[in-house]
Amino acid sequence: MNKQLTKIIFPAAGMGTRFLPATKATPKEMLTVVDKPMIQYGVEEALASGLDDIIMVTGRGKDAIENHFDISAELEANLHAAGKDELYQKVSHVARMASMAYIRQKEAKGLGHAVLCAASWVGDEAFGVSLADELMISEKPVMQQLREAHEKTGFSVVALAKVPDEDVSKYGIVKTDAEQDGLFRLRGMVEKPDIVDAPSNLALIGRYIFTPKLFDFLKESKAGVGGEIQLTDAMNELAKVEPVYGMVVDADRFDAGNPLGFLIANATLGLRDKKYGDLFREELKKLL
Ligand code: UTP
Repeated sequence: MNKQLTKIIFPAAGMGTRFLPATKATPKEMLTVVDKPMIQYGVEEALASGLDDIIMVTGRGKDAIENHFDISAELEANLHAAGKDELYQKVSHVARMASMAYIRQKEAKGLGHAVLCAASWVGDEAFGVSLADELMISEKPVMQQLREAHEKTGFSVVALAKVPDEDVSKYGIVKTDAEQDGLFRLRGMVEKPDIVDAPSNLALIGRYIFTPKLFDFLKESKAGVGGEIQLTDAMNELAKVEPVYGMVVDADRFDAGNPLGFLIANATLGLRDKKYGDLFREELKKLL
């Protein structure tokens, strides 16, 4: 019997160059959408999906992530003493939401390398991977949608979204068999293809569940474009030896890893926010 899926890796050691200078001293994953850093959305989604054993792969200058999920006794005492109960609850909740481990990726050698850094922590179990700068808002958490498909198939399942032609060159794009019971068996992946070379419009969007066999191929991977070890190269190899499935997930998705996507995420979630939504709408009307 396979072990229950509980482990999830958050690779958060990238350079965040598209956000410079904001990311010179602040990790991209700590940039705020409405009132929470992006990484907290990802962690909450993972926890709501039963993935509560979390490892963050961080790099230099990423201490803010560790501090965010740590207990700040002084802040909690101050909020408590000042009777700011709602804020106290929010702050203490973040610090106690999950068990977290941290590992350093000493050089930003790519997403595949970041995942490989967590190999010994994961061991011989299936595991999740979540990219926090892809924000997913949905009734059923996206990691839960993948978990259900993984439990049904016993194999790797990754989240897909249909993207318009003009966006194909921004994503890893998959080649698939015909859809069956909501799942596509993947037959290959290409990183950021030109539209003429793209095998489909189905893009990888930063949520994955993998069998531990992926690590065999990550270990063998040679650095490719820009000296980076690509996750998609190892996925391609994995798909040759066992099924790797993709599913188009049901979620509002925000590619918030670049300034425009980030602004759209803030505007959309700002307008939906219970506390600020109506006021924000009024203010926006004045600007438009
Ligand atoms: P991105 O390419 O979106 O992030 O990687 P980046 O490299 O930080 O950003 P740009 O392209 O320079 O603007 C996707 C995810 O993989 C992580 C990033 O932190 C992000 O969550 N990553 C990427 C690593 O952990 N290590 C790496 O070497 C590269």
